[in-house]
Amino acid sequence: MYPVEHVTLETTAFCNLNCSFCPINKLRRNSFIMDFRLVQKIIKENPQLTRINLNNWGEPLLHKRLFEIIGYINAQLPDCDVYFATNGRLLNDKRIDALLNLKIREIQFSVDAVGLTYETIRGCDYATTRVLIEHLLERRTGHEPKISIKTVINSGTEMVLEELLKEWLDKVDDIKLQPMMLPKPRKVACPEPFDNHPVVLSDGRVVPCCADYNGQLTVGDAAKDKLIDIWNNEKMENLRTQHNTKQFELPCSLCGEYETDLCKRRFG
Ligand SMILES: C[S@@+](CC[C@H](N)C(=O)[O-])C[C@H]1O[C@@H](n2cnc3c(N)ncnc32)[C@H](O)[C@@H]1O
Ligand code: SF4
Repeated sequence: MYPVEHVTLETTAFCNLNCSFCPINKLRRNSFIMDFRLVQKIIKENPQLTRINLNNWGEPLLHKRLFEIIGYINAQLPDCDVYFATNGRLLNDKRIDALLNLKIREIQFSVDAVGLTYETIRGCDYATTRVLIEHLLERRTGHEPKISIKTVINSGTEMVLEELLKEWLDKVDDIKLQPMMLPKPRKVACPEPFDNHPVVLSDGRVVPCCADYNGQLTVGDAAKDKLIDIWNNEKMENLRTQHNTKQFELPCSLCGEYETDLCKRRFG
């Protein structure tokens, strides 16, 4: 039996930005705002969860009930770590205060570079993003939520990484580097299908991995079935066999990452 201890809920697959390396506006599936009742069902059925990530593709702060969702998780699963990544652009003083009144383990701000490189990637001004993150850091008392910078590494961002580190290393709790996803032939098995971490898309469909952004590998529907049953069903077993025997099919067969010594690969 493969356990489910960690889950990603794609609270929304809509976004307020259109970053240069992100597939968000090319998704071959419909985007939704995740139904609060679906979140409640998943939480009620999974008291064993230790970590909940509230973003997949899309911007979680666009979900009008995001704070209610976090409050609900805090009440139902007080020991479960809640975290999410955000572009930060929808923050304001009211939202910062609301976030600081909830129990959130970590907020990861996606900042891939500083200045003009950031602006070219994200299509929005760097100074505003920096000020918003700094406001949150100033208003935080204590160590939670942990505030991180999350940086996608590719040929453009690795060249200017030093400037980013100079700007943020002393201000935030962590800087997380992750390689950009790239279509490249797979040679080794991916750890994701063997992990304890299903991803629920905004419409309730379950996929084994965030890299399956089009939902091609859909293995079940969280609105109908329990995550633990989906995670151990025949479709998941077939996918694991595919990886154990290296007989990869799409999208796994073309799922690769930018080669870099700066950070670990995520998908094998
Ligand atoms: C898809 S975003 C969703 C959350 C939020 N909108 C944000 O930007 O943080 C989650 C993370 O995926 C990263 N990301 C986007 N496109 C990527 C790609 N092609 N390869 C690797 N990571 C990517 C983003 O930079 C961000 O850190
Ligand atoms: S990386 Fe995040 S902010 Fe940028 S387009 Fe993708 S989902 Fe939106």
